Amino acid sequence: MPGLDNPLHLDMLRHSRARKPTLIRVAKAVKRAIFSEGIYGLDWGDVEFVEPLRFVRDRYILPYVNPNHVAVEIGPGGGRWTRYLLGFGKLYAVDYYTELIRELQKNFRRPNVEFIKNNGADFLGIPPESVHYVFSFGCFVHLDAPLIEGYLQNLRRILRPASNVVIQYSDKSKVMAQLNTGFSDNTPERMRQMVLRAGFTILEEDLTTMWHSSIIRFTQ
Ligand SMILES: C[S@@+](CC[C@H](N)C(=O)[O-])C[C@H]1O[C@@H](n2cnc3c(N)ncnc32)[C@H](O)[C@@H]1O
Repeated sequence: MPGLDNPLHLDMLRHSRARKPTLIRVAKAVKRAIFSEGIYGLDWGDVEFVEPLRFVRDRYILPYVNPNHVAVEIGPGGGRWTRYLLGFGKLYAVDYYTELIRELQKNFRRPNVEFIKNNGADFLGIPPESVHYVFSFGCFVHLDAPLIEGYLQNLRRILRPASNVVIQYSDKSKVMAQLNTGFSDNTPERMRQMVLRAGFTILEEDLTTMWHSSIIRFTQ
């Protein structure tokens, strides 16, 4: 998996915007108009309609949304999951790519949402011990161990006690991850070790919901 200067994420955004045959464009536009509010990333699966994604939302996001709490989303892309995090009192949307932040801002400018362009694994501008909940989906699946470990270290500074961190990551023990060259070399065993080494307590591991990845929930 290439490093932070790899074109993967910008290529995906450009590909999604690229000119498609007329019939496909019309069909997609109709589908978007009816269902999706024009959010980049829904082509990978709309949380409203794809059962495992709906499960992820219902189990790992909605029970934690609280208007008195502060949340962070890492790698929000076009906002496929951001939609469900807007009920937090404050939401920091953290992304490495300015272009992706601009894409998110098209639909998610709100008084309680702050956009942060980071340096790949940091939380510049987020006060210490201020965050109750962190969510990341579709981002850590592409990150190599040094960046994941960087994020885990930096999370320690911003999290409050009894916080909840939910991260979906690449699971190369699954065939669908092995077939995806953009997915990083990670497994539940490696992720578990990184999370424990960083000093966190694991609350929940989900190895079955996703076909190419797994999910871990941990606390400070
Ligand atoms: C495949 S998209 C997924 C977007 C969204 N979470 C979703 O599931 O639809 C990956 C996102 O992670 C962002 N990203 C990639 N590397 C990152 C990093 N090191 N730190 C923060 N964001 C990153 C990309 O810019 C993009 O917004």
